[in-house]
Amino acid sequence: MSDTRINDVSAMRVWDSRGRPTVEAQVILRDGSCGRAIAPAGASTGSGEAVDLRDGGDALGGRDVQRALANIRVEIADALRHMDAVDQVAVDALLCRLDGTENKGRLGANATVAVSMASAHAAAAANRVPLWRHLAGDGDVVLPLPEIQIFGGGAHAGGRVDVQDFMIVAPGAESFDQALVWTAEVYAAAGQLLEAQGRLRGVADEGGYWPEFSSNEEALEYLSKAIEAAGLKPVDQVAIALDIAASEFGQRGRYKLSLDGDELDSDGFIERLGAWIGRYPIVSVEDPLAEDDEEGLRAFTARFGKRLQIVGDDYLVTSAARVEHAAAIGACNAVLIKPNQAGTLSEARQALDASRDAGWDAIVSARSGETEDTTIVHLAIGWGAPQLKVGSFARSERMAKWNEVLRVEAALGERARFAGASALGGRGSR
Ligand code: PGA
Ligand code: ZN
Repeated sequence: MSDTRINDVSAMRVWDSRGRPTVEAQVILRDGSCGRAIAPAGASTGSGEAVDLRDGGDALGGRDVQRALANIRVEIADALRHMDAVDQVAVDALLCRLDGTENKGRLGANATVAVSMASAHAAAAANRVPLWRHLAGDGDVVLPLPEIQIFGGGAHAGGRVDVQDFMIVAPGAESFDQALVWTAEVYAAAGQLLEAQGRLRGVADEGGYWPEFSSNEEALEYLSKAIEAAGLKPVDQVAIALDIAASEFGQRGRYKLSLDGDELDSDGFIERLGAWIGRYPIVSVEDPLAEDDEEGLRAFTARFGKRLQIVGDDYLVTSAARVEHAAAIGACNAVLIKPNQAGTLSEARQALDASRDAGWDAIVSARSGETEDTTIVHLAIGWGAPQLKVGSFARSERMAKWNEVLRVEAALGERARFAGASALGGRGSR
């Protein structure tokens, strides 16, 4: 029997996909097994998220993480030493107790999530299995439906387009591999269309094209055209998923669409979204209203919840309590799961479990600031989450995740099953 008690926890500063400092944690067990993980970072964050600890001051835009690293090296290492890494719930409960705040503000969610994930990796290593298998046990696993960005906007592209993510899903694909092939075709077709019209300005933070559009709706036109140009059938094979990230341009019931030159109230904005939903093959909408507009979210869900997946990100911030509340009042029907919004794996898992209890869909998601770390892929597969959102189909911090799913699919061979259309709970057909 291997000795899975924690022997040492260490930390170092590494760099994320925006060239900003972030936290890497390493957990070493008594048997020598080692796990390592890196904290990601959001740009369009919900106000209820667990918060990263940053140093402030002038250097590195105030974003250095020396205090978070010191917390791992001293307090966290001392507290976790001798704990069994296999008992993730106990490890995470100790991190929460040690931090002692509502939002991980003392130790830093960047410190706690990195350690929580590294500990899980160490436990899997001691078991001599990949993390997804360690989490899933011996049972069958299903590969998630990928949600992949084609155009980036909002906070990830200097606000050029108000809507943040114009994404596609491939519910008609037979395998994860095929979903990526179709995505590659749509991504290429979208790039060619933009190029031909002189609209291409580079790529946004998550690798999606950073386009020069004259309205938000024009992005939907281009995306629909790209799906058709790729020879794919809208809705049945490939459909559109949006992350409106409405908290970025909506407060107190007013929605300011800079690109469209419009300011709408909550009802007016719901009408606008409804027009887009009627005209384009949209099957999923994330944060359609701002996090402070619960009434708007309820109204939107009442109106479109039967045919659309309605995902709460900024509104739900990977919190089980918030999911339970939202399900009780009929706001949203799916949750985005970002481990660093919660600060530990166990809390993220609780939010996923709460969504299951509510009969909701769930999407495990990366952040806009990412690294080569592929932990979220293992969580999505190991926890049986039906969907995975990682950003676009370019830049290696994104491709590392998609490629990792392909490795699991290959390892499963004949036993590989793909969530496909079932991930959307039958939504999307109209
Ligand atoms: P973020 O964006 O990581 O910048 O918060 C991702 C999202 O809104 O889903
Ligand atoms: Zn979002």
